[in-house]
Amino acid sequence: MTAFQKRSDYLPFSKPTIGDEEIAEVADSMRSGWLTTGPKTQRFAEAFKNYIGCKYAVPLNSATAGLHVAYIAAGARPFDEIVTSAMTFASTANTILHAGAKPVLADIEVETLNVSPDTLKAVFSPATRIIVPVHFAGLPCDMDPILKLARERNAIVIEDAAHAVGAQYKGRKIGTIGDMTVFSFHPNKNMTTGEGGMVAGNDEQYREQLELLSFHGMNKNAWKRFSATGTPHYAIDIPGFKYNMLDIQAAIGLHQLVKIDAFNRRRAELVKRYYEAFSGIEELGLTKKPSYEHLHAWHLFAPLVRSEKLKIDRDGFMQALKELNIGTGVHYRAVHMHPLYEKLGFRRGQFPKAEYVSDRIVSLPLFPSMTEKDQEDVIAAVKQVIAKNLNK
Ligand SMILES: Cc1ncc(COP(=O)(O)O)c(C=O)c1O
Repeated sequence: MTAFQKRSDYLPFSKPTIGDEEIAEVADSMRSGWLTTGPKTQRFAEAFKNYIGCKYAVPLNSATAGLHVAYIAAGARPFDEIVTSAMTFASTANTILHAGAKPVLADIEVETLNVSPDTLKAVFSPATRIIVPVHFAGLPCDMDPILKLARERNAIVIEDAAHAVGAQYKGRKIGTIGDMTVFSFHPNKNMTTGEGGMVAGNDEQYREQLELLSFHGMNKNAWKRFSATGTPHYAIDIPGFKYNMLDIQAAIGLHQLVKIDAFNRRRAELVKRYYEAFSGIEELGLTKKPSYEHLHAWHLFAPLVRSEKLKIDRDGFMQALKELNIGTGVHYRAVHMHPLYEKLGFRRGQFPKAEYVSDRIVSLPLFPSMTEKDQEDVIAAVKQVIAKNLNK
């Protein structure tokens, strides 16, 4: 086999797929004179709600904002414990601190990278008030037993579905299952609004709080105040935040939403080829399908670099790919291994599976506009880096 040569251009690990429709819609907003929250944000929230099949959808400027307001809307109080995964982006836990509550972490399963009913149960206490399963890489957690556990303990379930727009659990769309579900539209995610997020749900009791919290605690948004049919008066009910989504963002989202299922199908096709290429390579750990019926959103293709079988570690593997002009990412360093969480008393050794994963996980390029040739390059480069670094 001839050696794989460095690519002439850099292949990023992720790239948003933006069409002329998105560009024209943003230009339309710019020309219209209405840039902030307005008619397009309303249309986008309505379209997203219909896509998910839930009762409400509250648009925000990020999923981080969504998690923050969801915890508060769920009634988080100081000293309440909010349990989430040790393997997530830090904002899932940081926002627990923002809400004034106590973050509690649960270990994951190495096979799925998700928390399980058992790992959650292991860290429950009488102070557990909210449970935040993270659908890692777009694979739905086992929600039925998680909901059962939560109900037994009177805990509220807020799903972190930042990776999981379009995912399904036992035929139900993510967004219709827990008490509230938070989605992200960051540019790396399965669909984007530039930056953005959405809190979706079926239980209307949270909706008003979410809306108030996302915009100053104001009982009318700017659109209702300044549009032809609005009135200029408003009242502040609670000290809310400035987390509203702009019409410029919603303009992108309106067109991304039409394409999300096609984007996810393309991701699944690419992942199938990765599995075919890598399943015989024991130095790469791939996630396994859980036995329950599900539709994976494949936000990430993130194998584990089994450094115990290689002469290089994960970072060495990433560096070798970078030298071949192939981009990678780390999603994520386990939450408790960040200095902030060490200061809060967490330490290495508490969540061995999350630590094993945190030291080895690498995101390989995966995005809908990736070509067959791009993927062949990644496969050839990965195989070459592994073959050169076997631990003989
Ligand atoms: C699991 C998870 N939760 C929350 C977030 C926060 O999303 P956003 O960037 O929209 O605030 C991310 C983003 O990377 C994430 O991966």
